[in-house]
Amino acid sequence: RTSRPRLTVIGTGYLGATHAVCMAELGFEVLAVDVDQSKIERLSAGEIPFFEPDLADLLRANLATGRLRFTTSFEEIAAFGDVHFVCVGTPQQAGGNGADLSHLNAAIGRLAPLLTRPCLVVGKSTVPAGTAAGIAQTLARLAPANHTNGAAAGTNGAAAGSNGAAAALGGVQLAWNPEFLREGFAVADTLRPDRLVFGVASPAAEGALRAAFAPVIAQGVPVIVTDYATAELVKTAANSFLATKISFINAMAEVCEAVDADVLTLAEALSHDVRIGGNFLRPGVGFGGGCLPKDIRAFQARADELGVGVALRFLGEIDKINNRRRDRVVELLAAALDGTLAHRRLLVLGAAFKPNSDDVRDSPALAVADLLARTGAQVTVVDPVATHNARRALPTVAYSDRVEDSVVTGADAVVLLTEWRQFAELDPARLGPLMRRRVVIDARHALDGDRWRQAGWVYLAPGRPTGVIPTGVPAQWPVPTSAASTPPAQVAAATR
Ligand code: UDX
Repeated sequence: RTSRPRLTVIGTGYLGATHAVCMAELGFEVLAVDVDQSKIERLSAGEIPFFEPDLADLLRANLATGRLRFTTSFEEIAAFGDVHFVCVGTPQQAGGNGADLSHLNAAIGRLAPLLTRPCLVVGKSTVPAGTAAGIAQTLARLAPANHTNGAAAGTNGAAAGSNGAAAALGGVQLAWNPEFLREGFAVADTLRPDRLVFGVASPAAEGALRAAFAPVIAQGVPVIVTDYATAELVKTAANSFLATKISFINAMAEVCEAVDADVLTLAEALSHDVRIGGNFLRPGVGFGGGCLPKDIRAFQARADELGVGVALRFLGEIDKINNRRRDRVVELLAAALDGTLAHRRLLVLGAAFKPNSDDVRDSPALAVADLLARTGAQVTVVDPVATHNARRALPTVAYSDRVEDSVVTGADAVVLLTEWRQFAELDPARLGPLMRRRVVIDARHALDGDRWRQAGWVYLAPGRPTGVIPTGVPAQWPVPTSAASTPPAQVAAATR
């Protein structure tokens, strides 16, 4: 075996599980490790521990071929791998804004002493700029292969057939390869990413990475080869830009509200300027999830440490605009319900931070549900896949997986916060008679306002004129089709 490196994946969370499955699907032999035994058992049994369209089918298919295996043994992956992808989480620090690197440091600390032959360690986790340089030093210090001569470094059996690209490394080297996948489109984004970014310190490391991504590169995906720090920054810069775009249009929504203008029409008009474009210009209740919010905070924290905090001060404002949108939904609702929310029965549509996901990390929907519950309202949250995670994150409200008649009956208002397809398909004429009052707040602009108004509802959407009948949802911002099917091209492009 000289051409195809054997791959390992360290950490089988969202990123790691997706990466392991997709690399096996591309034809590589993949061994993935996690310290969580139950996760490894579930994955080995063909079960994905989170919701992601298409991933479970690919997992089962690749387990069946034998190309994909899971283990809890770091010894096993060290013996197996030519290229080790580190995919552990880097969440927000418990008491601060910076990134918590404890999982990353633990993974490297465990792996490094076991690396007895030439191989490439590839960091995929999102990290503060400068992290990779420190990890490279750790590997240089701790990896046995860096203290023997490369040719003799193969004391284990696997080294006899060592991969050519890995052998050329001479020892253990590090590369940084940020990941840009979106939840809900993780499989497509991994099999055919927009670009590959390789942060490397040697041509041999670039060669080993090119071998590990050969089937992706063969599709014509652009490769940007650079240093560690630039590679680290690409990820945080990309997410900061996306967050800025969303908060920009949401700031425009605030201004629109002050003059009774229409932010949807404004956004559409802006989007025709190719320099601006329509992607990530959907106003609503703001961004959430496991990446954008924590990444902009960690980026500011790192810039402060580096003495360039002033350059990223605007990201604090981006965060504030984002949070104000959550409050605005509560204000609109209170206004529609005669100024008081206490004891109202409210039906919240959506718990996930976006459709096609069961992720509730920093979810705007759950944050608003929480704010509403704190006013003394009786809140029931409906989400097709996220109620399990939501119950743990916010135990103070009631949940349902579907818009059952029983949860609608007697409600004072409906608040749409996650634009699941099934919510856009609700029939306002059928729901109306079940309600105590017909008030709907469409915080994601996912409903056909005309249709709801014609069915006798008070329809309100942030950033839109309250007295004018809106023209419905513009084609530029379609609701994702369904959990299982491929998104329309516009949606894919709009969220890239
Ligand atoms: C994001 C990045 O897109 C991805 O490249 C990176 O790897 C991880 O972070 P993800 O968190 O899966 O991906 O979700 P994304 O589709 O980017 O949406 C983030 C949030 O922004 C969601 O809450 C979404 O509802 C919101 N959003 C997105 C808007 O409010 N308006 C938009 O126009 C786009």
